[in-house]
Amino acid sequence: MKEKKTTMTKQVYIKTFGCQMNERDSEIMEQMLAQSGYIPVGEPTNADLVILNTCSIRAKAEQKVFSLLGSLRKQKKQQPDLRIAVAGCVAQQEGEQIFRRMPHVDIVVGTQQLYQLPEMLGRLERQETAREISCDLEKEFIIPPFQKLLQDRPPQSAEFRKFVTIMQGCNNYCSYCVVPTTRGREISRPVADILEEVRLQVNRGIKEITLLGQNVNSYGCTNAVAEKPTGFAYLLKMVAAIPGVQRLRFTTSNPQDLSTELMQCFQELPNLCPHFHLPVQAGSNAVLKRMNRKYTRELYQEKVAELRSYRPDIALCTDVIVGFPGETEEDFAQTMELLETVRFHGSFSFKYSDRPHTRSADFSDKVEEQVKGERLQRFQSRQDAISLERNQEFLGKTVEVMIESCSSADPSEPFQMKGRTGSNHIVHLRSSTQLLPGDLVLVTLTHAGQHSLKGVLKGVLP
Ligand code: SAH
Ligand code: SF4
Ligand code: F3S
Repeated sequence: MKEKKTTMTKQVYIKTFGCQMNERDSEIMEQMLAQSGYIPVGEPTNADLVILNTCSIRAKAEQKVFSLLGSLRKQKKQQPDLRIAVAGCVAQQEGEQIFRRMPHVDIVVGTQQLYQLPEMLGRLERQETAREISCDLEKEFIIPPFQKLLQDRPPQSAEFRKFVTIMQGCNNYCSYCVVPTTRGREISRPVADILEEVRLQVNRGIKEITLLGQNVNSYGCTNAVAEKPTGFAYLLKMVAAIPGVQRLRFTTSNPQDLSTELMQCFQELPNLCPHFHLPVQAGSNAVLKRMNRKYTRELYQEKVAELRSYRPDIALCTDVIVGFPGETEEDFAQTMELLETVRFHGSFSFKYSDRPHTRSADFSDKVEEQVKGERLQRFQSRQDAISLERNQEFLGKTVEVMIESCSSADPSEPFQMKGRTGSNHIVHLRSSTQLLPGDLVLVTLTHAGQHSLKGVLKGVLP
């Protein structure tokens, strides 16, 4: 029975939590495992291998992982051949502890050891080991040996955009954040490798590229690989110049070292999308200081004004933490005030959460859960209203939309489509002809909701 299984195709279910880094890493794992005969499935039931690619950014994210692991215990009892792997930030943070808490886990693989996964699985299958763990943090950028795997893979029909990781880790040590612990020291990936990956993707038919790093603004300041120093703006220009990159985005940017050169790219590069995610975290200078964010609200507002001077229609998004230790009503009022002055198109807001090995976990004056909840609600309801007003500014305008999905419930009805503007707004529209994901169309916007827009198709771009 056992022998038979190894020659058959095996099924892998990957569940991804957290940020785009994890999404990209999951895709890499999927590609590597395809080489060992694993096909991806959408359900854990009947899978031979379940991988949880985990996030630890807030306590809730980590709890989700452990509760899912808890429910997998039952499946493993009925299906002893099932292999369970934990990857990502919780794996990195907890290491061996995961086996202690969840003895039915077979593999723990850290954020920089993904490429070990097939070997680890091989050793388990050959019964050389009972369990596998690999959680070292590296001092060099992990150049994925599987980058080449891409070359032969035609894109699936719905694939039109890709993430490209340009750096790993983070050196900022914001006092609340686990990322420097879970992803290690900041290391920039060599320019040539990034350009090669982008070219490969474009040759496969990919139209939109998002460059990923925890703090892209410091790209090139921390190259492990000897190379002449190059800043992020330089890299961005090189990527933008690759023929076939129709849309270019990046995330995330830290306001502290946002350069004029980078901001000017929004004026100079036609394929750089007019959307900027610029996390502010808090509107009070006292709180920013305790967060170890190295800018003030004034500097933040200056950067926003400068950015808008180069690209007036840029859509600005942010991240906010409410209820950071010691945050007073007065401090919070300053966050609300910033919301009114900047008028973000959108934001992601979170209640502060204590995380292991962070400085703020030891701060006194923790804000009560109920107060955090109230502040979050106040923030979000005001943001929702502003988002709606911002969306209404688009009414009557004709914009470029990249189609993401196209469906028709009834053949006599026009196709229902969902797409995205350069400013990162979701647009719903109809068309009598079928369009494909990745197609660029012109749409006149006719309706604005809080979270999306509606429009009428005006034409299809070549
Ligand atoms: N590198 C990115 C952030 C990655 S984490 C940056 O610096 O902007 C994504 C967001 O999670 C952060 O911007 C922050 O708003 C939130 N976050 C991080 N740690 C948190 C914590 N301990 N509690 C609540 N929110 C947190
Ligand atoms: Fe975390 Fe700050 Fe680094 Fe962002 S910049 S990943 S918030 S330490
Ligand atoms: Fe979460 Fe790790 Fe990303 S903690 S947000 S998956 S870097």
